[in-house]
Amino acid sequence: MRIMVTGGAGFIGANFLNLLVPRHEEHHFINADKLTYAANLSSLAGIADAPNYTFAQLDIADASAVEEAFEEHAPDCVVHFAAESHVDRSIEGPRAFIESNIIGTFNLLESARKRWGKDNGLFHHVSTDEVYGSLGDTGMFVEDTRYDPSSPYSASKAASDHLVRAHHRTFGLPVKITNCSNNYGPLQFPEKLIPVMTLNAAEGKPLPVYGEGLNVRDWLYVTDHCEAIWKVVTEGKVGETYNIGGNNEVRNIDVVKIICKLVAEYQGKDASELESLITYVKDRPGHDMRYAIDASKIERDLGWSPAETFETGFRKTVHWYLDNTEWIDQVRSGEYRNWIEKNYTNRG
Ligand code: NAD
Ligand code: DAU
Repeated sequence: MRIMVTGGAGFIGANFLNLLVPRHEEHHFINADKLTYAANLSSLAGIADAPNYTFAQLDIADASAVEEAFEEHAPDCVVHFAAESHVDRSIEGPRAFIESNIIGTFNLLESARKRWGKDNGLFHHVSTDEVYGSLGDTGMFVEDTRYDPSSPYSASKAASDHLVRAHHRTFGLPVKITNCSNNYGPLQFPEKLIPVMTLNAAEGKPLPVYGEGLNVRDWLYVTDHCEAIWKVVTEGKVGETYNIGGNNEVRNIDVVKIICKLVAEYQGKDASELESLITYVKDRPGHDMRYAIDASKIERDLGWSPAETFETGFRKTVHWYLDNTEWIDQVRSGEYRNWIEKNYTNRG
């Protein structure tokens, strides 16, 4: 297969390519990425020269550029990761989320159906549990939970999911959708909770917890997500949606305390010293309280289950950020500083 992986220079896309390019020499992988602030080609250094890998810079919001990329690279499968992905940025400036996540997905779908016609090719759409909105103390998201997005980010992902399903029902485009919970692991841009807290704890900076820190997220190690996507691409049923989750529900404040413990252990310090850096700051507007995924469909139908536990995955992740200072220094240049200033200054 010729597989176009959009957003392959971002966090999950790069982990996906690093895992699959060496393993599947029979497939050719085309990484189509705009290279926004969230992308980093150095994350792909290990596969950059692989004979079954090509990088192509592409803005999916540009319809004619997408058409040309389909002509040039002739994919028969698209695994669509590319998106603006950070909720706080979608509150600060939603337009890019509409352009990349909605228009960008639409452009890819249109080029795919033009090239493949009916019942040919495969469009795999990588989506999020945030489309389902917020849970109370009980219950879990299943595949037919009603959509109820809260942020411009999740609304844009919900719109893109609807377009993908519409292209299947109306035009017969073969599609599959996965909705996954919070990923953690190496190569995540340090604007998200786990890398922000790990790096701040290591540097003795304040640990900015939104609201009271009682919001709950379900955490999944990134390569477990990538393996699940590959299972669905290769064995899932066309037209189906699969929820992916880690069954690891943790309150944000407890995540931060675990990070303090792991960083303290690494640095030979006392965890209470790092916990004293916890600072409660102004809450995120429209902040979803709790996410929990029921992943029994993918477990039952495709035999997927996560390989990492919360304990093994978190330790590996925290150590990765503390060991890979070169990667960190590189991504924390220019744009990163602007964001940190904008998001956290005067938040309290
Ligand atoms: P990320 O922000 O780390 O990376 C996104 C990548 O997409 C970047 O390389 C960026 O350059 C690229 N991109 C953005 N706009 C583009 C455009 N217009 N054209 C081409 N490329 C563009 O994101 P991530 O965390 O790796 O998330 C990847 C996908 O997985 C997203 O669709 C996201 O909604 C979904 N998802 C993420 C999580 C999570 O916890 N991170 C969980 C579930 C689903
Ligand atoms: O659930 C899947 C989603 O997970 C993905 O679709 C998104 O792309 C991804 O960014 C992630 O969204 P979240 O908003 O859940 O992730 P984030 O890391 O931004 O925040 C996790 C929780 O931690 C959330 O409740 C907000 C809180 N938080 C976050 C940051 C950055 C803080 O308390 N302080 C912070 O500094």
